[in-house]
Amino acid sequence: MKTWALYSLKGGVGKTAAAVNLAYEAAAAGRHVLLWDLDPQGAASWYFGIDEPAGISAKKIVTGTVPLGRYVRPTAYERLSVLPGDRGYRQWDAEIHAAKSPRKVLERLIEPFSETYSLLILDCPPGIGALATAILRAADRVLVPVVPTPLSLRALDEVMEHIAEKKVGKTRVRPFFSMADRRRTLHRQLIAEPPESMARAPEVFVDYSSHVEQMGAHRAPIREFAPRSRAATQFAELYRALD
Ligand SMILES: Nc1ncnc2c1ncn2[C@@H]1O[C@H](COP(=O)(O)OP(=O)(O)OP(=O)(O)O)[C@@H](O)[C@H]1O
Ligand SMILES: [Mg+2]
Repeated sequence: MKTWALYSLKGGVGKTAAAVNLAYEAAAAGRHVLLWDLDPQGAASWYFGIDEPAGISAKKIVTGTVPLGRYVRPTAYERLSVLPGDRGYRQWDAEIHAAKSPRKVLERLIEPFSETYSLLILDCPPGIGALATAILRAADRVLVPVVPTPLSLRALDEVMEHIAEKKVGKTRVRPFFSMADRRRTLHRQLIAEPPESMARAPEVFVDYSSHVEQMGAHRAPIREFAPRSRAATQFAELYRALD
């Protein structure tokens, strides 16, 4: 099982949009996929039609009182399951800090899923605490959406510094441009001449698209309601570039 984390220090950069569409593409390509929505807001789960709070507590999970697998839910799509987000995840950082080996918490929790799934996608909340460190360690790929603006690039630099400090594999980080608006000069310039920190980025990137916004109305991955849209094509290409 491979683990891909959609992660950024910054909020609202397209982590959840990418997690949902990449999970869908991977399942469509024949992989058995589990999407773990680690965000207390549960946006990724909501896109897959999951409304009911599962009543998950970060404490019970971290201490192993309740096995995580109990909460896995099927989706409307073949080979794609979701581990829903829950308000009980607001205590992630505190619970992980309190654990015996905080950095290994996530690795230990996801290990049993390797019997059932070939790809685990983590949709992470923004931030850079104990959860982030555990995620950076557990993931084979850390996918960082970067809006082509100086501030978003600065956030990427901070992530790279954090990674260097914590000595978790730097080479696993794959930034990619997200919400790119090529009508904007600044976006165009940064895409044409990306800084050194984007050296490992795949060629493909995700444009700003109303189809991403429409996911909220359809509560589905883009390819389900706009199969020929550029956004659907870009997420499919992104999946292939990362696979
Ligand atoms: N490529 C895109 N084009 C247009 N809108 C987008 C795009 N990607 C994301 N959005 C919109 O931006 C908002 C934030 O996106 P998303 O929830 O994916 O970001 P996030 O990084 O997961 O945010 P958070 O940190 O709050 O979890 C949403 O309203 C979404 O519809
Ligand atoms: Mg999100």
